[in-house]
Amino acid sequence: MRFLLLSLGLCLLLSSCREEPKINYSATKTADFSTAAVAGPHPLATKVALKVLQNGGNAIDAAVAMQFAMAVVYPRAGNIGGGGFLVYRDADGNSEALDYREQAPAAADRDMYLDEEGNVVQGLSTRGHLAVGVPGTVAGIAEMHRKHGSRPWKDLVGYSIDLAMNGYRLSQSEVGRIKRYHDDFAEFNKSTPFSDTTVVEGSLIVQPALAATLRRIRDKGAAGFYKGKTAELIVKEMKSGGGLITLEDLANYKPAWREPISKDYKEYRIISMPPSSSGGLCLAQMVEMLEPYPLSDWGFQSTPAVHTTVEAMRRAYADRAEYMGDSDFYPVPLDSLLDDDYLAGRMNDFREDSAGTSDAIVAGLEAVRESYETTHISIIDAAGNAVSITTTLNGNFGSKVMVDEGGFFLNNEMDDFSAKPGVPNMFGLIGKEANAIMPGKRMLSSMTPTIVEKDGELFLVLGAPGGSTIITAVLQTFLNVTEYGMPLAEAVNAPRFHHQYLPDVIVHEADALGNGVKEDLEKMGHQFRETKYMAVIKALQRLPEGTIVAAADRRNPDDDVKGY
Ligand code: GLY
Repeated sequence: MRFLLLSLGLCLLLSSCREEPKINYSATKTADFSTAAVAGPHPLATKVALKVLQNGGNAIDAAVAMQFAMAVVYPRAGNIGGGGFLVYRDADGNSEALDYREQAPAAADRDMYLDEEGNVVQGLSTRGHLAVGVPGTVAGIAEMHRKHGSRPWKDLVGYSIDLAMNGYRLSQSEVGRIKRYHDDFAEFNKSTPFSDTTVVEGSLIVQPALAATLRRIRDKGAAGFYKGKTAELIVKEMKSGGGLITLEDLANYKPAWREPISKDYKEYRIISMPPSSSGGLCLAQMVEMLEPYPLSDWGFQSTPAVHTTVEAMRRAYADRAEYMGDSDFYPVPLDSLLDDDYLAGRMNDFREDSAGTSDAIVAGLEAVRESYETTHISIIDAAGNAVSITTTLNGNFGSKVMVDEGGFFLNNEMDDFSAKPGVPNMFGLIGKEANAIMPGKRMLSSMTPTIVEKDGELFLVLGAPGGSTIITAVLQTFLNVTEYGMPLAEAVNAPRFHHQYLPDVIVHEADALGNGVKEDLEKMGHQFRETKYMAVIKALQRLPEGTIVAAADRRNPDDDVKGY
């Protein structure tokens, strides 16, 4: 079996690889192959997944080993101290979703980030110990393995222990990041493996404390994290900095299997993540609102296509702000939000010649650079099982708090709650009662791990990091393939735009909305903000004859990471 490691796209591919011809939007990061494929953010972690597949493991086995490996070599987003979502479709076409999102600790309360005047205290939900939600990743990985794994747990965790002990070499961008976050690490930690600012490109990072934690997980499963020594280290760390997580919070954490969101669009079926993510709901709403319109006749990023798509985005994100949250705690009206008549009605006030308006109750914050630090993996195995996983610490290195002696960063996911109704979080997203903080509740996410069927057959596996822009990036990649006829690499790399209701602006990349389209939209009343940061898609496409195409995104900020 031959394989190819794509140097830039960070996809590792099995069998019969060949480069795709050059196309408009950076086609250098794709390959075709005929048996199985992995797309992920770091070549060393992707190599681990490849080994698992080569040894006869299935897509879930590969995902288990790869997630632990990412916690070692991709510590700014790969994690055991965060949470994530799995959308899984087996080779027989059965789909399910696993929610291993973080939860608010039992001692959390809805006003915990407000001062005495009721104003949000900046930074409290984003940095340091109070920002940390009860991690879900290890419980989620253990649960997906329990249900669908075929290879021994110990073997799958073992790869990451080797990586932690043998070390990995830093790229230039990783060196830059270590220097940039030095003061944050120093503020919250005595020392970390990432606290040495004398590192240079090629420096080796060895993580013995993380290896010891991973050994406990290898030997005891999820209990090696949620009970015993690791749990005690987490609680000690919490107590040292005013954090809330207790031994009971950790012992009580449970992931949840959920019915995926499923929505038909023409000959396609979109299968995506339900609450506690808003991703699948918003994606399903947008495609349903868009289906009656002749997007392909209008053409890619033509004025009417952008205008209509923006108006669908605006309405879906308005519903997100009002109705979406953890459905275990709040009665999210799932059926109504997905109802075809409701969604047709949502576009009743759509005007083809003028921009709609968002209730300008609050001005949204500018999205911040560090917020685009989630990570996604897409895997298809030789049998045709497909895995779409998005996992995160939220910000770069999460809360910046590393568990002393545990060797892993903790998330700052509490910021994804609505700290106060109508006040934007670090993605500029607003929320209300549906996403208010409650003990044990999961904070609303935008992560959108997605699988698409065409005529009942596996067609696309995709997802992305990118905060609030994840959902619109998945939408546009899907439409680029299905409506605008693009090959996968072109679809992934095409310029994008984004609207999230508030702030009421079309956020767009510099090369989007060209040929006078922006000026036309401006005349219709739209406002704009240019951005360099959009979601970073990792996608696989199964072509009708069974060949699988993998494409990674030109937007990858880690193009120079080391594969050794
Ligand atoms: N932490 C980003 C998200 O879940 O949307």
